[in-house]
Amino acid sequence: MSPAPLVCRGIGEFREALADRLGAASGAVSLGLVPTMGALHEGHGHLVRLARQENAVVAVSVFVNPLQFGPDEDYERYPRALDADVELLTRHGADLVLAPALEQMYPDGEPLVRVTAGRLGAVLDGASRPGHFDGALTVVNKLLNIARPPVPARFRAYFGEKDAQQLLLVRRMVADFDLPVEIRPVPIVRDDDGLALSSRNRYLDPAQRRSALVLSRALRELAAGQVGLEAARARIDAEDGVRLDYLVVVDPRTLEPAEPAPGALALVAAHVGSTRLIDNLAL
Ligand code: PAJ
Repeated sequence: MSPAPLVCRGIGEFREALADRLGAASGAVSLGLVPTMGALHEGHGHLVRLARQENAVVAVSVFVNPLQFGPDEDYERYPRALDADVELLTRHGADLVLAPALEQMYPDGEPLVRVTAGRLGAVLDGASRPGHFDGALTVVNKLLNIARPPVPARFRAYFGEKDAQQLLLVRRMVADFDLPVEIRPVPIVRDDDGLALSSRNRYLDPAQRRSALVLSRALRELAAGQVGLEAARARIDAEDGVRLDYLVVVDPRTLEPAEPAPGALALVAAHVGSTRLIDNLAL
């Protein structure tokens, strides 16, 4: 087993450690950054594993970013479990963890200047969660700056396809701002029964967890052509305790509605009890 990662609470301490580790790396010097909000599961583990395969140094940030939560959302109750997170990150071979306090990230309270996600941030999850993607992109921008290698090195950052709209928007931000980082997408990790892993799954009781399976099932049936969009929507709505937010088939580059054909992406969001879940599947 690899040694436990160094956990940094301060940004300055993190950047010093980054310089040390990159300076000590032999051969091709590269850094892989995995931004997370903690409460880590094997989906996050997969991102770290890929980063480990591709880079000399692997850093993971653990920060529950208040900017991306709406006033009625679960910021306060979002699970925080740093000890367990460090245990998982040790297993997957991370070198450094940045786990900053709120005051480290936002010393003046909330930041004045922010990234706006634009048109692609206002649809789907952005329509249901106003400001969510502005908040997520603002912190990702900040984290990419904090972790930018302090010595010449390749820089890669890892994002899950589970959050397809976020991944698209991060790619757009990197392109639009010419950020010096390569974005690496990672496929969705699921439980054996098909449920996409999520930190929010731990809110579900056993009955809700069974109900939640309707989401991945509907996506699979849609992708297999066994049901049409309307029938798939009806099936989700008929499930006990599940309230559909959206089920759509879109062009993955524009998020515009598309015919259910190869190359299109099916996206779903629903509340199971009070827990909001998302999932998607390429057709
Ligand atoms: P979080 O929800 O913790 O997710 C961190 C990363 O893990 C994201 O890129 C997400 O897509 C990926 N991920 C989560 N579950 C996954 C799964 N089942 N399979 C594959 N990848 C998965 O996304 C965020 O945090 C935040 O918005 C963040 C980018 C950290 C900014 O605050």
